[in-house]
Amino acid sequence: MRQKLIAGNWKMNGLTEPGLSLAEELAQRMHRAVELNDPEPPNCDLLLCPPFTLLAPVWSALAGSGISLGGQDCHTEISGAHTGDISAMMLKDAGCTHVILGHSERRQDHGETDAGVKAKAQAAVEAGLVPIVCVGESEGERDSGSALSVIAGQVAGSLPSLVTGEEAVLAYEPIWAIGTGKTATPEDVAEVHGAIRALIAERDGEAAASNLRILYGGSVKPENAEALMATADVDGALVGGASLKADDFWAIAASCP
Ligand code: PGA
Repeated sequence: MRQKLIAGNWKMNGLTEPGLSLAEELAQRMHRAVELNDPEPPNCDLLLCPPFTLLAPVWSALAGSGISLGGQDCHTEISGAHTGDISAMMLKDAGCTHVILGHSERRQDHGETDAGVKAKAQAAVEAGLVPIVCVGESEGERDSGSALSVIAGQVAGSLPSLVTGEEAVLAYEPIWAIGTGKTATPEDVAEVHGAIRALIAERDGEAAASNLRILYGGSVKPENAEALMATADVDGALVGGASLKADDFWAIAASCP
């Protein structure tokens, strides 16, 4: 049975305040849950991915809480003349265990390609991080019936071939559902997640594929989390907007069965 993962993607949001208070509030809830069972600890792993500037203070705020820290991007190289970039090794050094890669906003805003995402994912694994590789179709691709083939191409192109289901996480984020309030139906999500797992099974075998966590992302909120988290092959959520509110993020985590 795969433990679910609820990851908060803060995107380009958060100065010291309210970022620090948000991390502290979640850490306190985890402490109370684990020590006093009040409320019950969520049945999932929790991860926060703040902007780079908040990694250090959020890491301190989360100390001992069991909530992990992740970055939102990394470079393909370990170090060097790349002004403005951050390497996977730097994220690891800052306390990260995970890094989001190939988010559709980076693919759109920075022209990131599948091959570039793959190189970043390889660098992340080599640095000891778990890459959360994002894939997802546009509204036009869904309407024209090509969603599954687009996603298959992204998975094949973005996930290094040697990476197994234990070393990486995949996130299915239909672009039309991100930040729009529209969510894919549980049936559509189950179809895509099942197809992704089948693809990984082809390259890694059933056993490796059965370890792969596949997150859903795109307007996940407390109102739809229960149905999504109960959907076949959904192993958690990548949460944007709702991860900026402690109550909402906690409620999504608490919805994991
Ligand atoms: P959203 O973002 O939850 O605000 O739709 C999800 C994401 O982009 O990771």
